Amino acid sequence: MHQIVNPSILYFGTPVVLISTLNPDGTTNLAPMSSAWWLNDSCMLGMSRRSQTVQNILREGRCVLNLPSADLVDAVDRLALTTGREDVPEDKAQMGYVYEPQKFGVAGLSAAPGESGWPDRVAECPVQMHAVLEDSRDVSGPTLAALEVRIVQTWMDDAILNPERRHHVDPGRWRPLIMSFTEFYGLGAQLRPSRLAAVF
Ligand SMILES: Cc1cc2nc3c(=O)[nH]c(=O)nc-3n(C[C@H](O)[C@H](O)[C@H](O)COP(=O)(O)O)c2cc1C
Repeated sequence: MHQIVNPSILYFGTPVVLISTLNPDGTTNLAPMSSAWWLNDSCMLGMSRRSQTVQNILREGRCVLNLPSADLVDAVDRLALTTGREDVPEDKAQMGYVYEPQKFGVAGLSAAPGESGWPDRVAECPVQMHAVLEDSRDVSGPTLAALEVRIVQTWMDDAILNPERRHHVDPGRWRPLIMSFTEFYGLGAQLRPSRLAAVF
């Protein structure tokens, strides 16, 4: 039996991304987000234009996409309800958001110092990617932005790599943190071998 419903959100489950961006003073802001999907070497990011992150990406044209594994869930949750914006928007303040200039410290994460002109990477994240902004557009009104970024350099922890094919992630070793309808989940065990995997 299916019901016709009007869901307030359609967050069916996507990996969490910690985005590092450069603030105007050269410090690194860090923010969790999960409206992200991937195509070849590009990624689409869905984020509020009123976040410090989007303001920083539109100004600097670059960001670092850090992918946390499921065991970093407590660190990610400590970043919830924080913003790198000193002037916290009124509606966010009413939701309990606070200005936090020291996101790494609050989360208990370590900054891997950025290469020249780049924000710091999150040392604990098994995947860290430099990305440049290619395009941006409004989604569902003027407040939300879809940012198309292109990955230009990628760091991966040995622990998630396929021992025989060193430039490939072993999906059995990669345990992403998933956000589904604003709750945190991990992945279950592999269900069966994939026929598509055989041709890649
Ligand atoms: C796990 C998690 C996922 C989130 N996903 C998104 C998202 O996909 N898009 C978005 O605009 N905000 C998302 N948020 C809220 C942002 O983190 C929030 O707007 C934050 O204030 C942004 O920080 P900034 O203002 O320093 O950039 C998410 C928050 C959490 C904790």
